[in-house]
Amino acid sequence: MSMNPTPLDQVREYEREQAMKLPADERPMFHLTPLVGWMNDPNGFCWYKGQYHLFYQYHPFSRQWGPMHWGHAVSEDLLHWTYMPCALAPDTAADAGGCFSGSAVEMPDGRLMLCYTGVQPAGTFRRETQAQCVAFGDGTDFEKSLLNPVARHAHLPQGYSAFDFRDPRVWYEDGLYRMVVANRHEEKQGAILLLESPDGVDWHYVTELDASCNEYGRMWECPDFFPMDGKQVLIVSPQQMYAREEFHAGYGTVAIIGRYDREDHRFVRESIQPVDHGLTFYAPQTTLAPDGRRIMIGWMDNWETCKEAPRRHPWYAQMSVPRELFMENGRLCQRPVREIEGLWQDTVRHEQVAVCEETSLPGVRGRLLDMTVTLHTEGSACRRFVLLVAKDDRHFVKIRCDLARGELVFDRSHGGSQRDIAHTRHVQALARKGKLTLRLLMDKESVEMFINGGERVVTSLIPTPLEAEDITFAADAPLQVSVEAHHLK
Ligand code: FRU
Repeated sequence: MSMNPTPLDQVREYEREQAMKLPADERPMFHLTPLVGWMNDPNGFCWYKGQYHLFYQYHPFSRQWGPMHWGHAVSEDLLHWTYMPCALAPDTAADAGGCFSGSAVEMPDGRLMLCYTGVQPAGTFRRETQAQCVAFGDGTDFEKSLLNPVARHAHLPQGYSAFDFRDPRVWYEDGLYRMVVANRHEEKQGAILLLESPDGVDWHYVTELDASCNEYGRMWECPDFFPMDGKQVLIVSPQQMYAREEFHAGYGTVAIIGRYDREDHRFVRESIQPVDHGLTFYAPQTTLAPDGRRIMIGWMDNWETCKEAPRRHPWYAQMSVPRELFMENGRLCQRPVREIEGLWQDTVRHEQVAVCEETSLPGVRGRLLDMTVTLHTEGSACRRFVLLVAKDDRHFVKIRCDLARGELVFDRSHGGSQRDIAHTRHVQALARKGKLTLRLLMDKESVEMFINGGERVVTSLIPTPLEAEDITFAADAPLQVSVEAHHLK
């Protein structure tokens, strides 16, 4: 290290020391965890110079949220990640209160631009404020612009907040940089604004794309905005939602699907749906893969569930599996990236087994699995099917399908938690053409369930001891069940 190490040099030195001490085998197998300390939102997810880059909200020095840095990892297949040195530390006047969430975009000259929220700490006579900053680099080292913050409250029309103004998502198009960014309007609450810049530094306000108007929560965080199959999708993560329609109360993830007129920048909402129905999924971000797939990754946690959650490892929190997005019947759907097939081994198949009394199936157990369960509902009198996973004498995680009502209940209340927080979620699960399929990805302390090929998704961390490996099937009347279980290597 140099004689006068910067705060970033010090973090990087700390990371090098820690990396040598950390037991790799405690980590999930294919879900990204922070190198050390705390992680929340995915940031700057992009494909750059032959690799996926994923940055993340990071507090290396403890397993609790603290002054925000940007952690960094790279991957070729979205499943095996290599840690890179910390990319940003809060070390300038524009971001002394933290480098909050943001995005990354490749510039025409080949550099990578990071765009993030700089938090300016409160002073004697003023509150903490938020504004957007940029840093330019080669994919490892980044230099912050001396002009930071480059997109400020002063750029916005009246009524928008200087205190809730964050999470810029930038892309480059038609010779311009465009940014969607979250704000909290004094009347409309959560609002997503569009800004434009010729060079990434000089920004101006264009329009408001959509707003909560107190219907879908208060502040909207972490927007993303992209075309998909002739539609335009705006993803936001609202705080303080009331339960309504398919949405649960609290922190949520919402996809607003609509039409976008690129000439006058008008976004017209057509439908709205949760992105994920689970207990632990928030602040997702997408990127385009070189082959055209739109891939999304989210923080596999939530601000409610993470409070007091056990800190069993030297790191806390993990990302979801990266997912391919697609549209089907007007809904935004998702499936795990196909690269996961490269991890399959020891595949076990059971075709149309008649299930009634609680039973296990040979070879179907474990906590590292990609398993698809197909219920053949046609002609069956079965009304209730129960799948138990992560089971032993004391624990189980229950997935109960109420076939008569077309509803599924995910329930981790016997999964080993001692905490008084939500443990169940109800979600629609209808048989399609006589079949209901549940694909479960299990990676030690998590379950991600894709219903009917990704029509609805339920993501949840489970605190269950890893020894709880049994899986059982039961139905209240005979039901044909097929299982394809890939163990993961
Ligand atoms: C979302 C969020 C963002 C913010 C970041 C701070 O989870 O609250 O709005 O930029 O986390 O860590």
